Amino acid sequence: MSNAHVGSRIVGWGSNLPEKVLTNNDLADGGLDTSDEWIYERTGIRQRHVGGSTGEMSIHAGQQALDVAGVTGADIDLVIVATSTPDQLMPGTSATVHAELGIGGGACDMQAVCSGFSYALVAANGLIATGLERVLVIGADSLSPYVDWDDRSSAILFGDGAGAAVLERHTERTLLSFDLGADGTSRHIGYTDHDGKITMDGKEVFRTAVRAVTKSAQNAIDSAGLTIDDIDWFVPHQANVRIIEAIAQRIGLPMEKAIVTIQNTANNSAATIPIALDTAVRDARVQRGDTLLLGGFGFGMTWASAVMKWDPRD
Ligand code: UT7
Repeated sequence: MSNAHVGSRIVGWGSNLPEKVLTNNDLADGGLDTSDEWIYERTGIRQRHVGGSTGEMSIHAGQQALDVAGVTGADIDLVIVATSTPDQLMPGTSATVHAELGIGGGACDMQAVCSGFSYALVAANGLIATGLERVLVIGADSLSPYVDWDDRSSAILFGDGAGAAVLERHTERTLLSFDLGADGTSRHIGYTDHDGKITMDGKEVFRTAVRAVTKSAQNAIDSAGLTIDDIDWFVPHQANVRIIEAIAQRIGLPMEKAIVTIQNTANNSAATIPIALDTAVRDARVQRGDTLLLGGFGFGMTWASAVMKWDPRD
């Protein structure tokens, strides 16, 4: 394969949220010792969608992305489902998606918790450089079954959802740079055991996330040979709007350039970045030629940043 084909670009996008909505008031009315004011002020969240299975949501988001790309499942060489909440321990949820969308090529899951979509996007770009034509990348999580709904320090934060992107071989690179990292020694600050609930040290996750994403985003911008002024849109993981604000402030990015969807979705882990991207493309904030900074973190702790040119097909 010649070097003329080493690049890739996103040609399809989509997202899916379960119909059932739980507002902050629903949580307070249901007996949780909290309030809409506290949650909104401390997190930016107003509501979360709950009740979808990872497979179902992935299929809907994936189908939308295929439709936008104008391709069918048969045209896809690989589907990667980034998730930490697969429908079964085995097989991967990608097997369900493979069957339901009629994927022509392979299927695998990827587990990097909330950083999963960005890790998968970078991996897909690399696989395209080594010969694949088209990869469907899905970030999907159904966190609601793992939420301790009596624990006000975590119950308010999470929801369910899926987002997807079709990455296709292109003559130019649109993934200009990336920075993937992890600190496994911090894996105790957020985890879920088999048959357990989400357990975390919220303050420590907050501090670690701000530190890690700030450094990672800066690394990605530097290795793209750009400065913060070249970034048109920051598409961050949606865990807490205060985390997004703290990162934006540290990297010198005005908050008007951050895509914030957390008010509607809360944190649905690997789904937040592709949902934010899908939202901002559909409402026409993101335009052809824009430079995007994707950035997020997850339990592990993992983190991932990527700088991309937005260059879909005509
Ligand atoms: O993808 C990774 C997933 N996890 C995260 O991203 C978590 C990151 N961390 C956070 O988002 C924040 O640390 C939280 C939202 C979890 C907590 O916010 P905080 O500003 O760090 O609050 P805090 O833990 O310092 O608690 C302040 C007060 C405490 O009361 P006292 O001790 O001051 O009397 C808490 O008991 O707020 C109380 N509190 C609440 N009050 C009303 C904690 N949760 C709630 C609540 N409603 N839901």
